[in-house]
Amino acid sequence: MTKNPVPVVTVPRLLQMKRAGEKIVALTAYDAPTGRLLDAAGVHLILVGDSVANVKLGYPNTLPVTLEEMLHHTRAVRRGVERALLVADMPFLTYEFDPKVAVAHVGRLIKEGGATAVKVEGAGSILPSIRALVAANIPVMGHLGLTPQSVLRLGGYRRQGRDRAGAARILSDARRLQSAGVFALVLEAVPAALGKKVARALRIPVIGIGAGPATDGQILVVDDLLGLTPPPRPRFARAYAELGAESLRAVRAYAGDVAAGRFPGPRESAD
Ligand code: KIV
Repeated sequence: MTKNPVPVVTVPRLLQMKRAGEKIVALTAYDAPTGRLLDAAGVHLILVGDSVANVKLGYPNTLPVTLEEMLHHTRAVRRGVERALLVADMPFLTYEFDPKVAVAHVGRLIKEGGATAVKVEGAGSILPSIRALVAANIPVMGHLGLTPQSVLRLGGYRRQGRDRAGAARILSDARRLQSAGVFALVLEAVPAALGKKVARALRIPVIGIGAGPATDGQILVVDDLLGLTPPPRPRFARAYAELGAESLRAVRAYAGDVAAGRFPGPRESAD
């Protein structure tokens, strides 16, 4: 059975951080070593994002990832994380239309995966599912703005909320999600002014990704931060290292050493 400890960073702690004006640090992780690394670095919230689909599993977008695949990665991250709040993304078409189905699927990520909370995308038609999850004592995080599970309808990954009507819709959806009981909201790829407005309007923390500096916290895909995703990367994603280029250099050096007979050398061959 997967362990499911009460984290040091709890849902009430995140709400307290918002009230105290302390910024929430959030990142994605997809495996145990990365979860352990982020936990050791003091990251408050770790998301097993459905971005695992395109970042790790080679799918073109997040739509194909299955509940079983999310379970597999959530269990792995759980093994590395003790301190941070662990949130698992609900895959496309596993929660949207039937609250009972949503509770059953989410229940697997909590009971078998060891997640503390789940994230769902959108508002509107998914509100009954969110209410059912909250009624079952499951912490739910919302996601508005650019919602990657809507990529087919949106026709690409475009910034959202750029005109008055779009911005007003996002603000009113954010209020509806808060009323439905979500404990936090991810706001992706919207103008900084809208990020600020939504964060100010809500009691719950708003965690931005490409939503400007005034949100209550920031989240990034960890592979973007580490420079592991090949360019072009989203404009809002700052690479704090270039591990992709460094890994390529290391593997080429190894290949060159093997080809030239320099590996293994005396040190690696010592009995
Ligand atoms: O799946 C994911 O990585 C996400 C983040 C971009 C917020 O939803």
